[in-house]
Amino acid sequence: MLKTRITEMLGIEYPILQGALQWLSRAELVSAVSNAGGLGCISSATFPTAEELRQEIKKTKSMTDKPFAVNITLMPAIQPVNYEEYINTVIEEGVNIIETSGRSPEPYMKLLKDAKAKTLHRATRIRDIRTAERVGIDAVTIVGFEGGGHPGMEDVTSLVRVPIAVDAVKIPVIAAGGIADARGFVAALSLGAEGILMGTRFLASKECNVHPKIKEWLLQASDTDTMMIERSIKNAARVMKTDFSQKVLEMEEKGATLEELLPLITGQREKQAFEEGDINAGIIHCGQAVGLIHDIPSVKEIIDDIVNGAKLIGQRLHNIGVSG
Ligand SMILES: Cc1cc2nc3c(=O)[nH]c(=O)nc-3n(C[C@H](O)[C@H](O)[C@H](O)COP(=O)(O)O)c2cc1C
Repeated sequence: MLKTRITEMLGIEYPILQGALQWLSRAELVSAVSNAGGLGCISSATFPTAEELRQEIKKTKSMTDKPFAVNITLMPAIQPVNYEEYINTVIEEGVNIIETSGRSPEPYMKLLKDAKAKTLHRATRIRDIRTAERVGIDAVTIVGFEGGGHPGMEDVTSLVRVPIAVDAVKIPVIAAGGIADARGFVAALSLGAEGILMGTRFLASKECNVHPKIKEWLLQASDTDTMMIERSIKNAARVMKTDFSQKVLEMEEKGATLEELLPLITGQREKQAFEEGDINAGIIHCGQAVGLIHDIPSVKEIIDDIVNGAKLIGQRLHNIGVSG
């Protein structure tokens, strides 16, 4: 049992959250994280319709009786998305932890508050977590530059960003970006965070339903095997360094337009890469924490290792005189 405002608020055993992973954070992974004492999170971006999201929530409920969350990614999409419909579906299904990301949650706050949902917002900029606090979000996750997915345009790493975030708001802060083991967990708590959120570490877990070839790639990759693309369209993304992503970067450097880039950076290609195990089928989001990953354990092993490892680190810190 580890107690912070986050474990109390969300009703979970450990302050360890699984980041939304488009195409991958489905019932198997999400229920495994929640059953292991953390907080699993379904990524709504995986589902082209709210009805498909509803079915995944039902499936997840059949696999765990512990709390889990649904993420609503408010990202620019080629086809406009009716986010209210998605949020209403989550509420109707009785999931009362909702995370937003991508854009300000403000337009949806009334809906979320009327449903008495516990609200989380994940962002990369300090001004965005301040806004989230102002509009009534219950806790924020700040993502450093190391993170997989979209770690923002400001290039500030977690070591600096997390304590600044903790100073900037009164609501609890969860740290994300570059965390994959007990060391990162204790570091985040030391920086003032009250929980951690990990994406890349859970990508490399037994329960993550991604092609074995992608897991093989993750095992051999080092901390220098990710790269940033999509800066030119102001949607910076950290992805696996592959021939495909190098090609996207070259096109950006030559001044490619959004219309020229879209067919390459579309999520449908990433879906294909995940299903077929072809790392050059599309861009694949991945964080620098991949350099810390040397095995594909079960989610329970990942979480237990972090909790047990944290206690050993606590002991070591005590022995060297850091704590009384
Ligand atoms: C493969 C992959 C898919 C992701 N999909 C989403 C998503 O659908 N929505 C979202 O808000 N964030 C998404 N993210 C970001 C994560 O939820 C999280 O912020 C990030 O992984 C944290 O950094 P880390 O990878 O260093 O742990 C994704 C990240 C990865 C690696």
